[in-house]
Amino acid sequence: MDYGKLISKAFQGRKNAYAPYSGFKVGASVLTEDGDIYTGCNIENASYGATNCAERTAIFKAVSEGHEAVRAIAIAGAENNYTWPCGICRQVMAEFALPDMKIILAKNEKEYIVKTLNEILPGAFTKKDLS
Ligand code: THU
Repeated sequence: MDYGKLISKAFQGRKNAYAPYSGFKVGASVLTEDGDIYTGCNIENASYGATNCAERTAIFKAVSEGHEAVRAIAIAGAENNYTWPCGICRQVMAEFALPDMKIILAKNEKEYIVKTLNEILPGAFTKKDLS
């Protein structure tokens, strides 16, 4: 898998971050099963709880365009540090992740770490728990 391209798309998404309250800009990019890429950014709100993280923006864009299976997601947040996804985003990832989905935490286009959902959200509650 070409992580470089996905990471550069996450940084591209970061440029549109709307983060006037925290000043913490995040970008994300999602690679779908079909090979399409959707980007996202965090979108804050004066009512802070209405904020949407970059990861969820990217996933929701993909799903709203008909893609319910995610192969990989790249996250570009803090400059010179890895930004880990929040708990709510991990739960949303669990809903749409293909079994071996990769989560790429990018410091920059050359320095990144790759995780699986099971590593960062073991024992996830999913649709299987509802049956
Ligand atoms: N944020 C993300 O977009 N993704 C993360 O993985 C961590 C947090 C955003 C939410 C908020 O706009 C800002 O970062 C500070 O929490």
